[in-house]
Amino acid sequence: MFENVQTAPADPILGLTELFKADPNPDKINLSVGVYQDAQGKTPVLETVKEAEKRILEQENSKGYLPMTGEPVYCARVQELLFGEGHEIIGSKRAATAQCPGGTGALRVAGDYLANQHPGASLWLSNPTWANHNTIFQAAGVNCKQYAYRDPASNGLDFDAMCESIKTIPRGDVILLHGCCHNPTGIDPTPEQWSQIGDLLAEQGVVPLVDFAYQGLGVGIEEDRAGLLELTKKVKQMFVCSSFSKNFGLYRERTGALTIVADNAEQAGVVMSQVKLRIRYNYSNPPSHGGQIVATVLSDKSLRTKWLEEVAEIRNRINDMRHLFVNTLKDKGVTQDFSSIIEQRGMFSFSGLTKEQVDRLREEFSIYIVGSGRINVAGMTPDNMDRLCEAIKAVL
Ligand code: LMR
Repeated sequence: MFENVQTAPADPILGLTELFKADPNPDKINLSVGVYQDAQGKTPVLETVKEAEKRILEQENSKGYLPMTGEPVYCARVQELLFGEGHEIIGSKRAATAQCPGGTGALRVAGDYLANQHPGASLWLSNPTWANHNTIFQAAGVNCKQYAYRDPASNGLDFDAMCESIKTIPRGDVILLHGCCHNPTGIDPTPEQWSQIGDLLAEQGVVPLVDFAYQGLGVGIEEDRAGLLELTKKVKQMFVCSSFSKNFGLYRERTGALTIVADNAEQAGVVMSQVKLRIRYNYSNPPSHGGQIVATVLSDKSLRTKWLEEVAEIRNRINDMRHLFVNTLKDKGVTQDFSSIIEQRGMFSFSGLTKEQVDRLREEFSIYIVGSGRINVAGMTPDNMDRLCEAIKAVL
C-alpha cells in the first residue's frame, strides 16, 4: 500500500516552526507562526488561565462526553463576547453555537456543513488570506474563489476593488471576512467600510462567514467587534468562527466555536441540527478543558476583569513592537517605507519582503518569516529587534 506514497509538501506556516526548532543557532528568531511571545521570548500561560485551571481541578467531577455542540455555558459566553451582552441576536435566540476544536476546527465544521447542505455555494476568500483557508475548505469539498483586498502600492486596503469584487459574487455564495486583525496583512476595514460591505452583501444575497480569531488583539475586545456588529445590522444570516487561541493563549487546548446566526430561533435550531451531524461524523464531540477555562474566567467578574488586563498587555506589547520595528529600521538607514506596519493591527503585517529575501533571512540569519513576507510582530522583542533589523537591512 505505502510504496508509492510521496512525501507531502511542508505546511507553509507550521512547517517553518519545525525548521525553527531544528535550527541550532542560539540567536534564531521566529516570526512565522501566529503565537504570542512576551518580551523575554516566552509564550506565557495567562494568570487567569492558571487560576481557572486550579478551580477546575478542584471542582471537576466527571470526564464524561460533552454534548456534540459542547458545553452550553461556554457557548453562552462565546455569544456574549461576540455580540455583547444583551444583544438582540442573543435575546431572540437567533444564534446557535457549537464548541469546536479551535478556530480551525470551527472553519472545518462550517466547510463540512456548506459542502453537505449548500453544495452549489462557493466560498470567496480575500486576496491574500490565511494560508490554511483554501486548504481547509477544499478538503471539505467547498469550491473557493478570491476577492480583491490588499493594495500592494499602499500596503493598505483596496476598498474600491474589494467592493467591485463583492458585486460579482452570485446570490447564495459565502464570503469569508476576517472580523479584525486580518491574517496575513493586519489591514482591516473601518467601521464605515464594514457598514458598506454589509449593504453590499444584503443587496447581493451573499452570506458572510466571519473568521474572528483575534478579538482583543486589535484595539480592544469591544472595539474589535465593531465590524461584526455592523454586519449584523445589515444581514440576518451569517457564520462566525471564533477562537481563544490568541486572546486566552490557549493554542494547544484547541478552543474555538462555530456560531450560526439565522432569521429566527427555529431556523437556527434547524441549521444547528445539521451542524451537529457534521461534528458527529468528524470528531463526535469537542475536547473540554479549554472551554472550561474560558467559561470559568468569563463567568467570574473579577477573573474577567483581570483577563481583560492581560489581553491589553498582549495587545500593547505588539503595538509597541510595531513602532520599535519601524523606527529601528529608519535609524539603521533603511529607506524602504515600512510605516504602514504601525497602522496595521493584530499579530501580523505584510512586510513586502520577497520570497528570496525571506529565504536569505532564514538561511543566513536564522530568521523565520512566512514565504509571503508575512511577519508575526508578536515574535519581536526589544532584545531581538536590533539583530532583526540589521538582517533585514542586509537582505533588502
Ligand atoms: C497563523 O496564521 O500563524 C496561526 O493562525 C496559526 C496557524 O495555525 O497557522
